Amino acid sequence: MPLLKNISTLYVCPDEGDQSDIRPVHDAVISWKEGVIEWAGPKSEFPGREDEYEVLNAGGRIVIPGLVDCHTHLAFGGWRPDEFEMRVQGKSYLEISRSGGGILSTVKETRSSHENELYKKASGLLDKINRSGTTTIECKSGYGLSLKDEIKTLRVYDRLRFNNKAHIISTFLGAHTVPPEFQDQRESYIRLLTDDIIPRVGEEKLAKFCDVFVEESAFSVDEARQILETGKQYGMRPKVHADQLSSGGGAELAAETGAISADHLEKVSDTGIRMMAESGVVAVTLPFASLYTQESFLDCRKLIDEGVQVAVATDFNPGSAPCYDLPLAMMLACNQSRLTPAQALKGATIYGAKAIGMESSTGSLEKGKSADFLVIDVPSVNFWMYQFAPDRKMEVFLKGECIRS
Ligand code: NIG
Ligand code: FE
Repeated sequence: MPLLKNISTLYVCPDEGDQSDIRPVHDAVISWKEGVIEWAGPKSEFPGREDEYEVLNAGGRIVIPGLVDCHTHLAFGGWRPDEFEMRVQGKSYLEISRSGGGILSTVKETRSSHENELYKKASGLLDKINRSGTTTIECKSGYGLSLKDEIKTLRVYDRLRFNNKAHIISTFLGAHTVPPEFQDQRESYIRLLTDDIIPRVGEEKLAKFCDVFVEESAFSVDEARQILETGKQYGMRPKVHADQLSSGGGAELAAETGAISADHLEKVSDTGIRMMAESGVVAVTLPFASLYTQESFLDCRKLIDEGVQVAVATDFNPGSAPCYDLPLAMMLACNQSRLTPAQALKGATIYGAKAIGMESSTGSLEKGKSADFLVIDVPSVNFWMYQFAPDRKMEVFLKGECIRS
């Protein structure tokens, strides 16, 4: 059984206390057995005998839980660097979508990609994502927008889960936008979703959550409600892409439908924030999406003050967030969304896990949870966030196994 000793500070990040309460433990050790944490806490209280363990030395570095990226669109065909250039030159994300770019251009490339091709690309990305510190990841469909192509994408996630150590959670996002062949008959697409695609995804247990993009350019609150309620009937709890580009009642809908999270929220209303707090909906802030669409960032401190738990995720996708580095997103959330480093850490660990219903097995360093943790060569979490360094020495343990040293 392995025992990691000589940890200067271990940050437990329990689902207790407030968002700042990351429970630092000084001079700590952690032991695990068959990929599951057996003990994590101060060396002085460790109940075992060192000579019974395979002892590893953290060399005075810090240990944090493996990161949880609770919002990504991992599998897609192609990339969209030209749109990046257009946005930098002044075209808005919506203008680009209206002229046939945006989500629809990725839909075209995803539809024309074979499942194996999508799998190979997503698998290569996942390896890099794991090496950057993310050990649990949520992955959405939503670039297929037909029965065949949505299922193809969700199968890719099933295969990744089967072949990879990382914890992978799938979300069905058939309501990402209305596909081109239904442009003038959106009700027919919604019927296709509620009568065919959602039942099939539910019956084949291809996704744990059902997400909708609530936005003028995508789905209205009433349309989204119908889709989310159908998802619930098939065992998928709601999630909402809410209030990203305009304030459209997305957060309110998330609270009303019992969504596990509402994500983006740059334009959330005060009523929406209050309703989320009352219903315990986790807010997911996505700093890369704000950065790349050149929108103002979410004021996370305001949400925390109102009693909402805030998770931090990448939104990794080929359009609005082509970057998968969660520590960088955390640093942006500190600088632009008024999170302290401790709050960002809780947002990318235990609250990220809560946003995808994984808090009983990941997100904190407690007995019985998966032995997912990072050993980082910094004196503190504050220092880690303050000096973002892509070449920082970091070890990544996933289910007790070192996947990056
Ligand atoms: O989460 N907001 C909607 N969907 C994605 C963007 C997808 C894309 O641009 O391809 C998002 O930002
Ligand atoms: Fe997204």
